Amino acid sequence: MPRVVVFDETGGPEVLHVVEEPGSEPAAGEVRVRIEAFAVNPLDRMVRAGQSPRPVRLPHARLGIEGTGVVDALGPGVTGLAVGDPVILSALPDFETRGAYAEYTTVPASRVVARPAGLDVVGAAALWVAYFTAYAALVEKAGMRPGDHVLITAASGGVGRAAIQVANQLGAVPLAVTRQTAKRDELLAAGAAAVIATDHEDVAESTRRHTGGAGADVVLDAVMGPGLAELSLAAKLGGDLVTVGWQDPRPASFPANPSLTIHRYMAFADMVEPAITGRVAAFLSAGVRTGALRPAVDRVFGLDDVVEAHRYSDRGPSAGKVVVRV
Ligand SMILES: NC(=O)c1ccc[n+]([C@@H]2O[C@H](COP(=O)([O-])OP(=O)(O)OC[C@H]3O[C@@H](n4cnc5c(N)ncnc54)[C@H](OP(=O)(O)O)[C@@H]3O)[C@@H](O)[C@H]2O)c1
Repeated sequence: MPRVVVFDETGGPEVLHVVEEPGSEPAAGEVRVRIEAFAVNPLDRMVRAGQSPRPVRLPHARLGIEGTGVVDALGPGVTGLAVGDPVILSALPDFETRGAYAEYTTVPASRVVARPAGLDVVGAAALWVAYFTAYAALVEKAGMRPGDHVLITAASGGVGRAAIQVANQLGAVPLAVTRQTAKRDELLAAGAAAVIATDHEDVAESTRRHTGGAGADVVLDAVMGPGLAELSLAAKLGGDLVTVGWQDPRPASFPANPSLTIHRYMAFADMVEPAITGRVAAFLSAGVRTGALRPAVDRVFGLDDVVEAHRYSDRGPSAGKVVVRV
């Protein structure tokens, strides 16, 4: 019988366990996907730990907001897809029942996109959430244009690394922020035009130095907390700041830059919009084809080691996404 990862209570990685249960047939308009790999995202760890932004029905909840595989069965009325097509799951808002941590999931046909040619299964599992978020936050929300200086916090994380590549692909100038000087060379190698390490640098002052005194046109923040005030000073007058993450649990200070436009971005809302998903999929396919977009993968685990994959992710910053091969 197909295997699936479930949890009956929230807590540490050990609440996750692999069970066997009968698969389900796709209903009208749905496809069943045989999952080949999925990525561990911060949201998965929050949900598992009982910090989900919305209630999760227990027991027997599933997990996982992104993954890749092949179409395994078509429900009545599905057109434009065939059994065997390689796909990426493009939206799983109901992850607690259809989560990607499984050998199979069944989703509406509109919730898959073609897997970009030239990407292996592990890379494809690490692509969608980070790159969708980076592209849509920068381009669709903040209106990033070629030549813009883009300040990216948590630049060594999945979204941050994706944002560096997205900015480069579109001719913008990515300025990477990390808390650790030790990551400078790694981030320059990842495509950052400059690195600002907050263990010994002031973000606003350094940003002005890298932008001829003007400040960043766009700030992408995946941290929040009191650092937001400093970021607003790093942005130019009339610039845009888009927040996507919440890694610093402390209250966020109100930004001191009065002409800054602040956006709060949630990719889930856009991932169910076919027009936006279509634009992002086209952008990612082109970037993968030219080699401009290359998801960084730190470690790969097997499905039986899903607990270990979460333990590893919980330990903190890694050198790319953590992926589980199914
Ligand atoms: N809004 C959305 O739709 C959306 C979509 C995807 C992800 N997210 C959120 O965006 C955030 C980043 O996601 P991710 O996948 O990039 O995470 P990740 O791969 O786990 O990366 C985290 C990075 O953030 C930095 N960091 C960690 N804790 C920090 C803290 N307390 N203060 C400052 N920096 C910290 C670390 O970099 P350094 O050690 O180099 O500083 C680390 O490499 C998460 O909060 C995630 O939930 C939101």
